[in-house]
Amino acid sequence: MDDKLAALAAEVEARAQQVRDERELDELRTSVLGRKGGRLSQVLAGLGKLPKEERAEFGRRANEAKARIEASLEHARRRLADAAVEQSLARRYDVTFDALPPHRGSLHILRQTLEDVASFFRSRGFAIVMGPEVETEYYNFEAMNIPADHPARDAMDTFYVGPRTLLRTHTSPMQVRSMLAYPPPIAILVPGKVYRRDALDARHAFVFHQFEGLQVDRGVTFAHLKGFVTDLCRALYGEDRRTRFRPSYFQFTEPSAEVDVSCAVCEGRGCRTCGGAGWLEMGGAGMVHPHVLRAGGYDPETYTGWAFGLGIERIAMVRNGIDDIRLFTENDPAFVEQFA
Ligand code: DAH
Repeated sequence: MDDKLAALAAEVEARAQQVRDERELDELRTSVLGRKGGRLSQVLAGLGKLPKEERAEFGRRANEAKARIEASLEHARRRLADAAVEQSLARRYDVTFDALPPHRGSLHILRQTLEDVASFFRSRGFAIVMGPEVETEYYNFEAMNIPADHPARDAMDTFYVGPRTLLRTHTSPMQVRSMLAYPPPIAILVPGKVYRRDALDARHAFVFHQFEGLQVDRGVTFAHLKGFVTDLCRALYGEDRRTRFRPSYFQFTEPSAEVDVSCAVCEGRGCRTCGGAGWLEMGGAGMVHPHVLRAGGYDPETYTGWAFGLGIERIAMVRNGIDDIRLFTENDPAFVEQFA
C-alpha cells in the first residue's frame, strides 16, 4: 500500500511538470483527487482491508501523499500563471499602426434642413425667434382669429395639458407674441416643434416641425410674399423649381393661399411622390389678418404683413426622397448616417 501511495505521488509530481495549460492541469487534478474514481480515492479504498494496527500509519502516509500531490499541482498552477504574465509582457505592439477612425457624429437631417432654411432667412435680415411649445388657447387660437367653438379648433386636433393650456398646434402663435414684444417693422423666422393628435402613419406624426415666416412693415404686399417664398423654394429645391399659389382659407390671413412647389422627382409630369399632380403642397401663406395685427398691438391702417407656415419634415422628405415621416425619429443608424 505504501508503495502505491509513493508511486502515485511521484507520478503526479512528474506529470504536473509537463502540463501545458489550465485545462490539462484540471484534468490531472480530477483524475487524481476526484471524489469519484480519483486514483487517490481508489488507493484509500483499500484502507478497510488492512489489519487494524496498520491503519493509523497508513492514514498518516496517505495524508503525506495527498499533501505532496497538492503541492505539485499548486506548483504547476503557479508555473502556468507566471508563464501567462511573461507572455503578456513579451507581447510587442506596433505603436505606428493606424488606429481605427473614431466614429464621427453629424447633424440630423432635420437640423440640416432647418439650417438651410435659417441661412436663407438670415441672408434677408430676418431674426430667428423661438416660442413656447406649451401655449395658451389665447395665443394658439383666439389671437390668431380662431374663436372658441370654431371648427378649425377641431381640425387642429389639439393636445390639451390644462383647461386653457395646450401643446401648440402650429408656430403661428409666435406672430402675435413677437409683435407684442417688438415694435414694427418686424421680420422673423420661428422654427420649432408643433403637436397634433394625429394617428401615426407614413405621412402623419403627432409631433413635427414647422417654421413660420412673418414680415410686417409699411407697404408690404402679396407680391413681397410671393417673391420671398419663390426665392426660398429655389434656394431649397434648386433654381428650376416653380412655385404656385392656390387661393385658400386661413382665419389668420386675408387673402390666404396654399403654396405648392413643382415636384422635383418627376419635374411636374406627375409621379407617385406628388400623387400624379406634378405639384407638392408645402404649406399655407397669406396677408396677416387685421385682427391678428391688432392683437399684436400693430395698427392695421398703417402696417401690412405677410406670413407663411411650412413643415420642415415635408421639405426634408421632398429634398431627399424620404417616403416615411417616422424615419426621422426612429434613429436607425442606417437612415441617420446617410445624411452624415
Ligand atoms: N398655421 C398653419 C398650419 O399650421 C400654417 C399657416 C398658414 C401659417 C398660413 C401661416 C399662414 O403663417 O399665413 O396649418
